[in-house]
Amino acid sequence: VVAAGSGTRYGGPKQVDPLLGSTVVAHSVATARSVCDGVVVVVPASGSPVPIEADVIVPGGDSRSESVRCGLRALPVDVEIVLIHDAARPGASAAVFKAVEAAVHAGADGAVPALAVTDTLKSATLGSYGLEVAKTISRSDLYAIQTPQAFRRDVLEAAHAGGGDATDDAGLVEQSGGSVVVVEGERRALKLTEPEDLVMLQALLLGTEIDGRS
Ligand code: CTP
Ligand code: MG
Repeated sequence: VVAAGSGTRYGGPKQVDPLLGSTVVAHSVATARSVCDGVVVVVPASGSPVPIEADVIVPGGDSRSESVRCGLRALPVDVEIVLIHDAARPGASAAVFKAVEAAVHAGADGAVPALAVTDTLKSATLGSYGLEVAKTISRSDLYAIQTPQAFRRDVLEAAHAGGGDATDDAGLVEQSGGSVVVVEGERRALKLTEPEDLVMLQALLLGTEIDGRS
């Protein structure tokens, strides 16, 4: 679980915000613990200001990919499948953790949760009247990718060995030729990025509880 970011767009360290009687990071770690044999949490170099119940806690780096590498270095030798999760996605369910793990168990190098894109997509460039639409892009095979993402440990370590940077780990695995499978993502796994995302997340989680689908 990577929780070493500074939350620039959010306006502060979102992973320590209160959420439904606990904290954002505690929710993410609790779900990971309910599924995985062990959990490594990567925290800011200054330490976590809120309590974290994990098997290992290590300081992170300057980028998300660096923080993931800090976590990878803390893995016990016998680990074969690794799940990587953004602390900032506290709504991700245990079912999705299990689904990505199952896909890798079945033979894929990696697996990611995905939601089909629903907005119309356009590219735009600076023109004489400001930003102008260049063209509309078909969304028929485009997906928004979430975490947790699962990988064969050897493939993930090889992908990270060059010290590359990407917004997710599958990006590095794809660049090194690995096969990444897509499983069904979930709205409730949205990433806290802007402050209003917390309102949406709370509504989604409360709605799920009321429906009895949590
Ligand atoms: N993360 C991390 N180490 C970093 C940067 C990010 O562990 N150096 C983690 C964040 O804590 C978060 C996840 O990676 O759980 C996804 O990153 P993002 O949403 O970009 O969070 P921040 O980097 O904190 O936010 P921002 O980019 O707005 O500063
Ligand atoms: Mg970031």
